[in-house]
Amino acid sequence: MNILRTNILRMAPLLAALTLGTAFASVASAQQLGARKSLYDRLGGLKGITVVVDDFIERLVANEELNKNPAIDAGRKISPVPYLKFQVSQMVCEVTGGPCKYTGKAMMESHRHLNISENEWSVMANEFKKSLDRFKVPAVEQKELFDIVGTTKADIVVRK
Ligand code: HEM
Repeated sequence: MNILRTNILRMAPLLAALTLGTAFASVASAQQLGARKSLYDRLGGLKGITVVVDDFIERLVANEELNKNPAIDAGRKISPVPYLKFQVSQMVCEVTGGPCKYTGKAMMESHRHLNISENEWSVMANEFKKSLDRFKVPAVEQKELFDIVGTTKADIVVRK
């Protein structure tokens, strides 16, 4: 099935060019194919994802506002930084269409005891944006990532 799909995808620009009889058609078709790339591929696969996650987690664990919350500070000490980077990378890889399988705990289970507030969520989102900007992740991919991260908010934030 995959081989079939790959072959069809490879042939699509040629078929479009033949049908419309113009070089422009094959350019347009190539662009359409590009638009169909997974978010994982557009982020540069695991190389792109791990670099951003590394920077993001370093910012989070050093953030004084977050560490004022004693539960977050304690949680950070329970879960080593390399473990967090590994699990968050695996998760981002999976949910963006990559080949990974997330093996960590569910978001509610791993965050409920951290007593995370709305404000702490905003602090985290600001740090995430800084990492995305630092590595020049384009606006379209940033939005898709924020939409994905947003789906976890109800399981992570427990107070106003
Ligand atoms: C204010 C926001 C957040 C803070 C302060 C925070 C902090 C933490 C801390 C301290 C831990 C370790 C907890 C423990 O072992 O007791 C943890 C685990 C984790 N967090 Fe977050 N987190 C936040 C949001 C997120 C978001 C948005 C994601 C992903 C969408 C995420 C993904 C993870 C993962 C994958 C783990 C490891 C789960 C496991 O133990 O298997 N976190 N987080």
